[in-house]
Amino acid sequence: MERIEITCAELVEVRTLTRTVAARYGTPDNHEFLNDASAIAHELPRRLRQTLCHFRLFEPASAMLVISGWKVDDDKIGPTPEHWQHAAGGDTREDEMFLLLLASLLGEAIGWSTQQDGRVVHDLLPIKGHEHEQVGTGSEELITPHVEDAFHPYRADYLGLLCLRNPDRVPTTVAPISNVRLSEEALAILSGPHFVIRPDNSHLPKNAGSDTARTPEEEALVRKAYRKIERMGNHPEPIPILFGDLQTPYVRMDAYFMDPPADPAARVAFADLQRKVDEALQDCVMAPGEICFVDNFQALHGRKPFKARYDGRDRWFKRINVVRDLRKSRDARQSAASRVMY
Ligand SMILES: [Fe+2]
Repeated sequence: MERIEITCAELVEVRTLTRTVAARYGTPDNHEFLNDASAIAHELPRRLRQTLCHFRLFEPASAMLVISGWKVDDDKIGPTPEHWQHAAGGDTREDEMFLLLLASLLGEAIGWSTQQDGRVVHDLLPIKGHEHEQVGTGSEELITPHVEDAFHPYRADYLGLLCLRNPDRVPTTVAPISNVRLSEEALAILSGPHFVIRPDNSHLPKNAGSDTARTPEEEALVRKAYRKIERMGNHPEPIPILFGDLQTPYVRMDAYFMDPPADPAARVAFADLQRKVDEALQDCVMAPGEICFVDNFQALHGRKPFKARYDGRDRWFKRINVVRDLRKSRDARQSAASRVMY
């Protein structure tokens, strides 16, 4: 994986910037902040900007960039909330704003109206009752390797994670597709439209917030978005798993939400690919303050199981989805600059 460590001098610059930005814009989900983020990011230290820009441009096969050196103030962020709906208790504004500023050098952060109530920054923390769910708020279930929102044509190009707390050193797992060796025959089959991916559980109505304030117009839009997810679940479009340049392919896969294909050769190739992805899976233990960006076209990611504590000290990550081209999803968003997908 690619790595960059923020130096002490750079950290002083970054802190000055995030403090000013937090005072000016208040919260990271402030539209004005999101609209200005890519301009403000020009004020980040040049070495950081260059690293992110090169990660975007050169698409390294390792498909993952880890940025360390950011300091999380454990007292300031407060206890790990019991639910993502109650994540506003502590103060994580500067942490989130730094994550979003870095992300704006890769593209635009987006949210899904059907996931964590359309928030652009998600909270990954264990929720009581979700222990055995295949979602980011689960704990005891292995999160199997997947491309984030693989079912959706407007899925992110990058997944951004910021570790606030990880007391049991629970590994995030990553499998770059470049580490999976495939025969010419397997490449040909896997790049054909033989596969279907259903929406993952994080987009189900049962995982929506329970106390979200919406206007009747917004409520109608969200209901429509859930119907769209339901349709995508009932009638998934056949797609290829591998695409782009097949010498260095892009990948679209979430085996947990895929059926074995009807075609026997495709079924064999798919089972073989799953085995090879499992073999290619690497552990990445993130410490508080570490940030990583995973290339969601070149790698699958997951998480090892863990035992939640529910004592305010649990594993707590912030997650964002970043697209390189906001324009391609214009038919799913309310305005050109809107970031929420319906
Ligand atoms: Fe994920």
